[in-house]
Formats: sequence, structure tokens, C-alpha cells
Amino acid sequence: MTRDFIWGVATSAYQIEGAAQAEGRGESIWDNFHARTGDTGAIACDFYHRYVRDVSLLEQLGVDAFRFSVAWPRVLPEGRGHVNRAGLDFYDRLVDELLAAGIEPFVNLYHWDLPLRLHEKGGWPVRATAEAFAEYASVVASRLGDRVVYWSTHNEPYCASWLGYGLGEHAPGETSTRAAFAAAHHLLLSHGLAVSEIRRHARAAQVGIIVDSWPAHPASDDPRADAAAWAADGVRNRWFFDALLRGRYPDDVVAQYAADLPAIGDDDLAQIAVPLDWLGINNYSRTLVDADGSIVRAPSAPLTAMHWEICPSALTEVLLRIHEEYDAPPLYVTEFGAAFDDVRTHDGRIHDVDRIAFLDASVEAIDAAIAAGADVRGAFVWSLFDNFEWAEGYSKRFGLVYLDYPTLARIPKASFVWYRDLIAARRRGAAQSGESRMVAPLP
Ligand code: FCB
Repeated sequence: MTRDFIWGVATSAYQIEGAAQAEGRGESIWDNFHARTGDTGAIACDFYHRYVRDVSLLEQLGVDAFRFSVAWPRVLPEGRGHVNRAGLDFYDRLVDELLAAGIEPFVNLYHWDLPLRLHEKGGWPVRATAEAFAEYASVVASRLGDRVVYWSTHNEPYCASWLGYGLGEHAPGETSTRAAFAAAHHLLLSHGLAVSEIRRHARAAQVGIIVDSWPAHPASDDPRADAAAWAADGVRNRWFFDALLRGRYPDDVVAQYAADLPAIGDDDLAQIAVPLDWLGINNYSRTLVDADGSIVRAPSAPLTAMHWEICPSALTEVLLRIHEEYDAPPLYVTEFGAAFDDVRTHDGRIHDVDRIAFLDASVEAIDAAIAAGADVRGAFVWSLFDNFEWAEGYSKRFGLVYLDYPTLARIPKASFVWYRDLIAARRRGAAQSGESRMVAPLP
């Protein structure tokens, strides 16, 4: 890896901030969408009030960058129009705190917390929401654009559209294929519209988008499983990558779902495919698809607490696919990580050896992709601390830092120490190879 490879951790607003009623924040679609466990993000990690000490934790970890998202309803409580100064002030202070600690802010504008008022007006299935998002991007970029270099518009448009509108697992809990496709299109369109707003206000901006991608593999040798995996790949992966990097939706998906697609304006795809400075890839596993199109689990495959197959090669595969099949900008692995059932033992510590093994294998998977030619510039562990894991509430722990929810105490796990040491070792290695480059004789 090169000297300037960025090591970071990733989070999102609704999952960590809490303070749902504080200082003029409006409601989002998640506030009343109770997880299976009945949990909400009302308190979460209380990051909103504790961010100064949490930035010290980041310093101890030694990361180069911190990925967080801005809560749209904190900045624009009604979604458009009235700007809540106090909300913007919070992100302003956070950015200053990070920069003072020498940590690069990676600001993401949308991690699923759509203002409730916009949902009531139709949400992502309507085009006006894309226009509202561009206005919101403009408000945030004009405030933070003098200091923030790394921006992303969306996190995981597949999850925001399909889990929220198609499969009903996430807020707002709809189950309509038409609504999911309309949401997917308008999310992508809103990205295109927002990129120019960010660049207008943030002169040095490096703008990207974060796409989740799990390879879809056939579950058997049956040729129907092959076809079903390709079809699943179309909706899950190619729909997003083809639109963003080729300016078109994949023909097979368009043909299969013609009756379910929204009106697509003549310039929409050109706008969606605006050239980017970087592309974020989130990967946790792969999908196995059976002949009838159902998602199955590999027998005896090792699983995380999310019941996701442990499959580090999926990460290499996704990175190489983008490198080989698309004309892509530099890549960042904007999320990798795993939930396990962490236990605090008698010494008060969390010896999360499973997570360390998972992260170690993931770093090897990234190294393998780089060795094979992929231009990967950084990697972010999901997540800094345990947090509100959407449909699973607080039952799943992804953090390098354990959150004791009754007291909100932060307890670094063994994986925190492992990641700290990895970053330090990689930095030493890079510095040494940098030195040897410097003393090498000129040709
Ligand atoms: C990703 C989400 C993130 C977190 C992880 C586990 O899909 O972006 O918020 O929930 O999964």
C-alpha cells in the first residue's frame, strides 16, 4: 500500500447521535420505525453530546479519517426551507474538532434519515425529493465546504431504495417493486444534482458516492441458478454501477421490469453519471442465489452474528470487478466489518478474537485487490463503536469500542488495539519504503 493510504472508521448520524429532540431537529422516517427489538435511535451512543471525547478516542486509535453523516432533519427540520442553525453548528464544531486532532472528515450527506415531512410528501419515490436533496447539499456544503475536502452524497442507495421501499425491512417499510425502482432512480438523480452543488461551494472538494455491493453467486451448477444470480446482480449491483459509471441502466433489468420503472427524464442518466473524484464500496459478504431466485445460505458456511457468510474474497471480487469492468475513479472501502456476540469477561474486557480474524482477512482481501491492480486509496472499519443497527436495534454489535448502553460508557475492545497497531505498523512500513525510495539513485 502506498504511503498515503487512508485508514479510518465509519459511522452514521442516526446510528450514533441520539439527541433526537435536541435543538430543533425535525423527525426522520426512522424515529418512529421501531426495530424488531423495539429500539430506536433516540439516545443511541449520545454522540451529539459526547463527540469531543469520542474524537479523543479516534486520536488514540490513530485513524487518518473519520466517516460520519449529516442528519438532514437536523439541518432542515422540514426537509426544505427553514435552516436550523443549531444543527449546522453541531457539524461545524465536529469538523473543527476532527481537524484540530489531525483527522480528515469524510462527510456523507445521506445515511437513510429522510425528513419525515418529505416522506409525507411522497419520499424518494417522487422526483421532488431529489430536488430537495440538492438544496440540502447546498446548505451543508456552503457551511462546511471551506474545511471539508471529502464528500459523499449517499450511502448505499440499494439499501435505501430496496430495503426501505421494496422489501419493507427498513423505514419507511414499504413493499412495492415500483416504489423501490422509483426510489432507486431518484436517489441516483439526487446524487447527480447534489455533486454540482457541493463543488460550487467547496472548491477543493473530492466528491463521491458510497455503493454497497455483494457479489451474487449461483448456489448450484444448475444453469437456472446462474441466470437467477445474474438477474439478482442486475438489481443489486449493475443497476447502480452502470448508471453511475456508464450513464445507462442495464438492458436486462430494464427489459425485465419495464412495467415497474418510473419516468426517466432525457438528461437524468447523464446527470447521474457526472464524473466523480472517488467511489466508496461497502462490502460485508456475498449473496447465494438458487435456481428459483431465492437467497440461500451455503451449508456449513461460517457466519457472523448477522447470519452473513464470512467470505473475505467477496471484497476482493467486488473491488476487482469495478477495476476491470468499469472506468472508475479511485476507490475507497468505505465499510468493512462484522457483528459478533461480544461478551465482557471477568477482567471487564472484550476479547473479540472473531472480529480481529474477520478484519485481518478483510485487510488481506484489500491488499490482494491492490496487488491485482485496483486503485484503492483507503479503508474504513464499520464501526467506531457499537450502535443502533437499524432493523436489529442494539442487538448487534459492530464496534471496535463496546458501548455499555445503560451507562453509555465506551470500552475499547481487543479489536481496537489490533486496528491501532495495524495502522501504526502500516504507517511505519510506508515510511520505511518511502525513505528507501528517497535514497534510491536516480535513473
Ligand atoms: C451497512 C450500513 C451501515 C451498517 C452496516 C452494518 O449496510 O451502511 O449503516 O448498518 O451495514
